[in-house]
Amino acid sequence: MRPRKRRSPIHKDGVLPRIADAQQLNGSASVLVEVRNLALDFKSRTDTTRAVESINLEVATGSLTAIVGPSGCGKSTLLHVLAGLLQPTSGEVVFRGGTRPKIGYMFQQDSLLPWRTALSNVELALRLNGASRAEARSMAGKALQHFGLESFERHFPRQLSGGMRKRVALACALSYHPDLLLMDEPYSSLDAQTRLLLQDELLTAWKEAGTTIIFVTHDLEEAVCLGDKVVIMSMIR
Ligand SMILES: Nc1ncnc2c1ncn2[C@@H]1O[C@H](COP(=O)(O)OP(=O)(O)OP(=O)(O)O)[C@@H](O)[C@H]1O
Ligand SMILES: [Mg+2]
Repeated sequence: MRPRKRRSPIHKDGVLPRIADAQQLNGSASVLVEVRNLALDFKSRTDTTRAVESINLEVATGSLTAIVGPSGCGKSTLLHVLAGLLQPTSGEVVFRGGTRPKIGYMFQQDSLLPWRTALSNVELALRLNGASRAEARSMAGKALQHFGLESFERHFPRQLSGGMRKRVALACALSYHPDLLLMDEPYSSLDAQTRLLLQDELLTAWKEAGTTIIFVTHDLEEAVCLGDKVVIMSMIR
């Protein structure tokens, strides 16, 4: 196995940075998005579930922020709010320039369309983000080639390994050059070896593309290996 370069996320004072510590970036031009005192309730006819509260976070442009926390602490909910799929109950999400940038989202569940080939899944992502048919065809081919999948363009998701499906999903998400890439436990279902490989590929892609990434995981080691900042979420008491 290739030796991995591990960047230490440990603060100079010897502790993992916590959400509150993100305040140090306050007001800096390099901040892409700031989450201020966010809370979100899921309401049904009979009850209300508080999914997240008191979330404060700043994400620097070009950074790879790893968010780690136990199951049910609200990691996916936070990403949904950042993507604009859920509205906060209170608090706010402020993007630089006042508008939500172009966002790529690798959902927690496999989100490739099973009736489309790898190539046509990436083409669709590009078409939905404004590419013409011809542009989408050529860019999708290049995106798959980038992840070593050129021989699998015509394969359907069921004909790909779990790791390959994740690579196609990443190719979809990066193909249209998002300003912010949200990744929700993308590698949790993979074996340890494939996971390490994909983590390395992600770090390479991140360095090449310069995209700001928020990577959610429940695995502290993964968070520490990948993130240049690690944010720890805990369950609401
Ligand atoms: N659509 C929903 N309706 C009601 N409650 C919800 C809904 N989605 C999530 N919740 C609740 O919100 C809380 C946070 O859920 P969320 O999925 O964000 O957690 P998570 O940290 O992503 O967990 P996991 O690591 O298992 O994916 C949980 O208590 C969950 O039951
Ligand atoms: Mg989740």
